[in-house]
Amino acid sequence: MNFHVMTLFPDMIREAMNTSIIKRAMEAGKIGLNAVDIRDYTANKHNRVDDYTYGGGAGMLMQAQPVYDCYKAITKDMTDDIPVIYVSPQGRVFDQKMAFEYSKKEDIIILCGHYEGIDERVLEEIVTDTVSIGDYVLTGGELPALVMMDAIARLVPGVLSNDESYMTESFSDGLLEYPQYTRPEEWMGKNVPPVLLSGHHVNIEKWRHEQSLIRTKERRPDLYEKYINAEKEQK
Ligand code: ADE
Repeated sequence: MNFHVMTLFPDMIREAMNTSIIKRAMEAGKIGLNAVDIRDYTANKHNRVDDYTYGGGAGMLMQAQPVYDCYKAITKDMTDDIPVIYVSPQGRVFDQKMAFEYSKKEDIIILCGHYEGIDERVLEEIVTDTVSIGDYVLTGGELPALVMMDAIARLVPGVLSNDESYMTESFSDGLLEYPQYTRPEEWMGKNVPPVLLSGHHVNIEKWRHEQSLIRTKERRPDLYEKYINAEKEQK
């Protein structure tokens, strides 16, 4: 899968993606990254990409033309059906299910805004999905884009090794993950729960599921409610 990121800070995207598991996935050819500088598509001699807002008000707005020309350059050899995600606090809130859907695509374009936003006309023209990473405001779209790419990339087949695999983790079944322990058996007077040392796999699975339920109810009552309702419906 290939990520195409339209940004004023391509180095920020490249550097963050060039780390750890995502770096390995890029080296193995599982993930492609094309970080494109919107500023390369300005049509004025000062390389400006922003201007004042019609109607007044504080802040600058990214202009439509460089964004559109950048998009045209990225998509010139592509077919029509490519998601163009605009990262914005006004979008639908990103979650694991969306990450999973995007992970099936061959190409994804992510548009990162800066300043106070982007001229609405180009958004209308090119954006298919507006996505937020949560109800808080950041200074630009690069961090949200990186968050989303990380969550999507790790679901692409072959990106995680078996023991990094995502099958039994938080959200994959709608519950938070159970607590986990490694050596030593006793640390600062705290012992590993005895069932985990028992070697009895059925009991261990049962304990883990119970712990997931307890944890989800306590920390994310909204998810717990959803899980319980889904279970009732199944029955
Ligand atoms: N840009 C600024 N804040 C954002 C957020 N919370 N999500 C996505 N894009 C953003």
